[in-house]
Amino acid sequence: MGLLSLSCCLLAIFLSLSPALSTNSEGNALHALRTGLSDPNNVLQSWDPTLVNPCTWFHITCDSNNHVIRLDLGNSNVSGTLGPELGQLKHLKYLELYMNSLSGEIPKELGNLKKLVSLDMYGNKLEGQIPKAFAKLKSLRFLRLNNNKLTGPIPRELTALSDLKVFDVSNNDLCGTIPVDGPFANFQMERSLRTTGSMDRSCKD
Ligand SMILES: *[C@@H]1O[C@H](CO)[C@@H](O)[C@H](O)[C@H]1NC(C)=O
Repeated sequence: MGLLSLSCCLLAIFLSLSPALSTNSEGNALHALRTGLSDPNNVLQSWDPTLVNPCTWFHITCDSNNHVIRLDLGNSNVSGTLGPELGQLKHLKYLELYMNSLSGEIPKELGNLKKLVSLDMYGNKLEGQIPKAFAKLKSLRFLRLNNNKLTGPIPRELTALSDLKVFDVSNNDLCGTIPVDGPFANFQMERSLRTTGSMDRSCKD
């Protein structure tokens, strides 16, 4: 084989691989999530990182461009912690992790998910504060963090989320008062702002 045809051949191989390499950053992020979780019911068994993309994995939904738009792991009996890699799922619209045993802090990198419509993490053991970075989630309509072990204040920055329809942080260990400016004022009328059992302590700082 001549040098020219060899280099053509290598180029062809490279071109055939490169789309896989570029789209699989989402698969890599999801695989990193899997490695941080304990999964006694084997709901993540189909998450094979050697596939071209994660679109055939169970609990994952992609759009027509093979970008991940849903992660559905509600009621899946998974435990463990969430890492910053979840922030790489830039096209994600629905992040459903409710009713599991997730612990540790909510990664602030979730604030990078600009297309997120629904963020449901209720019914876990999450600790630490509600990230201020959630104020960057301009498409967010549903934010349910109730029934966890979250502490600290509700970030005032969240009043910038003008599309929020449901905001539930009840049954945590939050402190302070509810910011009543911005969309939170409307919440109280619509009874979609749920903070029961959360706001009975004043913040120490
Ligand atoms: C959840 O996982 C635990 C093991 O960590 C197991 O004992 C339990 O039966 C599982 N629950 C369900 C509903 O599958």
